[in-house]
This record gives sequence, C-alpha cells and structure tokens, in this order.
Amino acid sequence: MKEKILELLNKKHDYLSGDQISRHLGISRQGLWKHIQELKDLGYEIEAVPHLGYRLASAPDRLFDFEVSRSLHTKFIGKKIFYFDYLSSTMDLAMQKGMQGAPSGTLVLAEAQVRGRGRLGREWFSPKYKGIYLSLILRPDIAPASCPVLTLMSAVSICEAFKSLLHLEAQIKWPNDILVNHKKIAGILTEMNAEMDKVNFVVIGIGLNVNNDKKSLLPQATALKQELGQEVRRVVLLEEILRTLENNYFLLQEKGTEEIINKWRNFALTLGSRVKVDYQGKHIEGQAVDLDSDGALLIRKDSGLMQKISSGDVTTCR
Ligand code: BTN
Repeated sequence: MKEKILELLNKKHDYLSGDQISRHLGISRQGLWKHIQELKDLGYEIEAVPHLGYRLASAPDRLFDFEVSRSLHTKFIGKKIFYFDYLSSTMDLAMQKGMQGAPSGTLVLAEAQVRGRGRLGREWFSPKYKGIYLSLILRPDIAPASCPVLTLMSAVSICEAFKSLLHLEAQIKWPNDILVNHKKIAGILTEMNAEMDKVNFVVIGIGLNVNNDKKSLLPQATALKQELGQEVRRVVLLEEILRTLENNYFLLQEKGTEEIINKWRNFALTLGSRVKVDYQGKHIEGQAVDLDSDGALLIRKDSGLMQKISSGDVTTCR
C-alpha cells in the first residue's frame, strides 16, 4: 500500500486530497493516515494541509526495494530484491539465497554492512546510507574458467554508468578496482558456486563509495561526493548501474567474452604500464600487455617471457 500511495503522490506533484487517495485505493481515511505516518517514519516528508490534502515534499536517499523496483526498467535484474538496513555482508545472504534456488537477477541490498568483505581477505568499509552495497545472483551459461569476465563486465558497467549519468570518467585497475583520479571509488568481489564444468550460480558483489565524507576515507580512496562536489542520489545511480549491467550481460551472452574485453580495454589503467603483481605468493614485475579471452592479465617480464596472471594484486608503477 505504501508503494501505491507514493506513486499517487509522486504523480501529482501537488496536494492530493485524503478523500481522493482513500477512494482510489479503497482504504479508509484512518488507514491512509496510518500509512502516511509509516512513510514519514521511513523519512518521507509529507505535508498535510487541512482542506488541501497531502503533498510529497521530499523522499529520503534510501535504497528501499519498492523505490528501486519502481523505476528499474530491466528485464530480469532486480525483479526480486532483498533489502536490509544492516547485514553482516550482502555476499553471505546472496550465497545462501543462491543455494536455495533464487532466480538469476536476484539482488541483495544493504544500507550498511557490519562485516563487508573485499578481495584477498580485506575488509570493505560500509557506513550506513553512504555507499551502495549490493550482491547480485547470476546464473550464466558459461564455463567456470570464463567467470572472471563477469567481474570485468561489472567493472565496465560501473564506468559506463558513471559516464552516462554523472559525466564522470573512471578507470579500471585490473581486474576490478574502479578508480577516479587514481583513487579507488568502487570494488567488485565475485564468488561462485560451481562444479568442474558447470556454474550453478555466481554472486557479484559491488561496493561503491557515494556520499562518504572525506575524513572517513583512506588517503588512497575517494567517493563520488568528493569527486563531483555534491551528493549523488544513490537510487538513481543504482538503477543506472543495474540497467547497464543487464545490457552488458545480454551482450556477453550474444557475442561472447571478446566484446566485453574490448570495452574493458577502453577503461584500462593497467594496460601498457609497468606493474608489480603479488601472485600466488610470488612477486612479478613487468609490462602489462593485454588481457586474454578469459580476462587474465598478460605480463611481459623483463626477461621477455610472457606470464599469464588470473588473480592477484596489481600495483601500477607511475
Ligand atoms: C574489493 O575491492 O576488494 C571488493 C570489494 C567488494 C565489496 C562489496 S560491498 C557489497 C558486497 N558485500 C561484501 O561483503 N562485499 C561486497
């Protein structure tokens, strides 16, 4: 019912009488008043003026499932959303839902994470209402070895969404750190449930610094608010990312990995640079030359030998 009331108030942009709303939705005036109070408790500013009715003055910057669904015009991503104020990590719940058979496109969202995790056992700082913390379940029809390309696809989608919505240029540090002005703004963690030759499901976790204050960020990190000089409405950005991600997923399914890797190259910070990589306990240095068709990084070592790196931590020598 809350969703329906919001839809009416959103459409009108002006006062709507309680009588009209109640009649339209088939509820009593008292019932309507109760729902309005609930919306106010969620942070919606709703003005009530005698003889005029109700007007939506402002909506809070929350990622409520009903807000996300309302304007998300995707085909399968986000058709099912699990939304929480707090979670330990959206990854844990998404993995659990995946095992229970949740459909491809299921989305887990949290306003804060107590134990948000990053790659290589790192922590992902997830302060409440400041960032976007999501895990997306996908059931792709690809070989387990090709799954890293889903991470590249997600990184590309975030950069494309920044560009189209915010006119902001971002770059990707292999495999999946999103940087703006050489500072990390977003990260992606992909976990998979697979057998030898079959992927059951993949969970793509995205953490994005949006409205974080400068003092809460590490020196090597940034947030959209810092780069743009103004706050960003998270729900709008989330929708743009999900829409772009879905388009790229269809592209991957239709055309294969090469199209995604080509797009990735356009945003790549790493390619062409001299890099240091910590890989399987070894330290490798050389020139990052290209990606192979599964998304692995190809490095030309000083000896001239080529080395293929499928995971690891890359530092670009500037
Ligand atoms: C990284 O750069 O190391 C990856 C960070 C991934 C963080 C996101 S936030 C949403 C999801 N839940 C988690 O616990 N981690 C991912």
